[in-house]
Amino acid sequence: MGCGWWEWRWAPLLLALMLAKPVQGESLPFQLYVDPAGHLQVGMPNNATTRHVMVQERDVVQELKDLQWQFQQLARRRATNDRLARRLNGGWILTSLEQVGTQGAPTPRAQYRFGISADMDGATLAVGSLADNDLGLEDGSITVYRRDPVTRQYNLHSTIEAPHFIPSLPSPVGVAVAVEGPRLAAGAWSHDFVTANEGAVYMFHLEEATDEYMYEQTIMAPVPQLGGRFGVDVDLHRNWLAVGAHSADEAGVASGAAYVFNGTTFFQKLTPANAQAGDQFGIAVALTDDYLAVGAFGRDDHGNNSGIVYLFRTNATGHFEEHAQLYSPFPMVNEQFGISLAFADNVLLVGAYSTAPKGAIKAGAVYTFFIDEMGLVHPGAPLRGPGGGIANDLFGSAVAATPFASTVVVGAMDHTVQLRDDAGGIFFFE
Ligand SMILES: *[C@@H]1O[C@H](CO)[C@@H](O)[C@H](O)[C@H]1NC(C)=O
Ligand SMILES: *[C@@H]1O[C@H](CO)[C@@H](O)[C@H](O)[C@H]1NC(C)=O
Ligand SMILES: *[C@@H]1O[C@H](CO)[C@@H](O)[C@H](O)[C@H]1NC(C)=O
Ligand SMILES: *[C@@H]1O[C@H](CO)[C@@H](O)[C@H](O)[C@H]1NC(C)=O
Repeated sequence: MGCGWWEWRWAPLLLALMLAKPVQGESLPFQLYVDPAGHLQVGMPNNATTRHVMVQERDVVQELKDLQWQFQQLARRRATNDRLARRLNGGWILTSLEQVGTQGAPTPRAQYRFGISADMDGATLAVGSLADNDLGLEDGSITVYRRDPVTRQYNLHSTIEAPHFIPSLPSPVGVAVAVEGPRLAAGAWSHDFVTANEGAVYMFHLEEATDEYMYEQTIMAPVPQLGGRFGVDVDLHRNWLAVGAHSADEAGVASGAAYVFNGTTFFQKLTPANAQAGDQFGIAVALTDDYLAVGAFGRDDHGNNSGIVYLFRTNATGHFEEHAQLYSPFPMVNEQFGISLAFADNVLLVGAYSTAPKGAIKAGAVYTFFIDEMGLVHPGAPLRGPGGGIANDLFGSAVAATPFASTVVVGAMDHTVQLRDDAGGIFFFE
């Protein structure tokens, strides 16, 4: 085959492949297919106006397949990024202002602080409360909801309390929760077996037969620290469990620490290189494929308690190494950026529950960041409470997201519900 044939045959095809824009991001306008005569064709089947190019040579066919594969990858990536970009540029809509309680959950009570923690996986949504007042102060619980596939409402599934045989006074669950598949991790920051308030994580497993979460085991820091508050936040991703201990005294009082477990086996302890007393590193943790994010909401780089988030990335041996430091796009004193964290693929959501948008004190906000393939971090549009934020709601006390950030849940633990102060609520964004 001559060079002229090549140019003549291929120029329009290549040009068309380069210029083609995938519709809705999902399907390609071009397909490779074999016609009734056994020849490979490129084009849009069922569209007579589109040029079809006949190709017969085998190497050319392979080249074309490779090209199409590359194009598909590119289109898929472009579609994903487009979707995320739309979301990150203000594509989130507040769909519900009501506490899930109105869908059959616990009755809102003052000081309940529903929404201090939250996590989602598939149809499961778990929300923690700091207190539920059935055993005294700070005897929190976790409320589990399941999304009905038809009505899309979250219905009450179960309530999880600290296993009663753990003789701790009090050792509430609710301050932190993570769900993935059948696993549920509940942080219990007041757990005191070895010393006082060293904290622990209670692992539960969803039994298939009964559809009930059963307590399985307690995970503790390899070296429990007096007042370390291990379990103040937890996250699960694949086989990994991340646990924060914001009051651990690693580099001064309450500089904090974070721990990573492979399954239930201790794997790595993390502290940032520039740790300082009072940073409270570990107040929030979030895991995704190659990254671990850890919040340190007491960090003072942009004023007292302005806060910071450290991004760690896995290296060749699977260990997490410091990769980037993130600050609020609008840093302010006592913003407490990093109080809560969640990943939805490569989108990182960061709560700053004491920020004051338009002067609404402690209204709070959730900032969004997109981590690109190079590992560079790009800020997106923030999420805010009703009307831009209600003073003293602490919106952003928790954040959870489903893949592609298609649903985001934000906790506001001091939200007033039916005149009950600090009953707490959660807000859905779609
Ligand atoms: C066929 O392809 C042409 C050129 O891309 C396009 O303008 C037209 O809308 C297509 N028709 C159908 C039915 O898809
Ligand atoms: C920061 O906090 C410390 C301790 O609470 C306080 O002594 C100090 O005055 C604060 N500094 C500023 C600039 O607010
Ligand atoms: C990965 O990080 C760990 C912890 O910092 C370090 O000990 C290890 O040497 C690193 N491995 C590689 C291949 O860089
Ligand atoms: C995690 O544990 C699994 C199972 O024990 C093991 O196969 C895997 O290599 C571990 N991962 C790392 C990074 O050590």
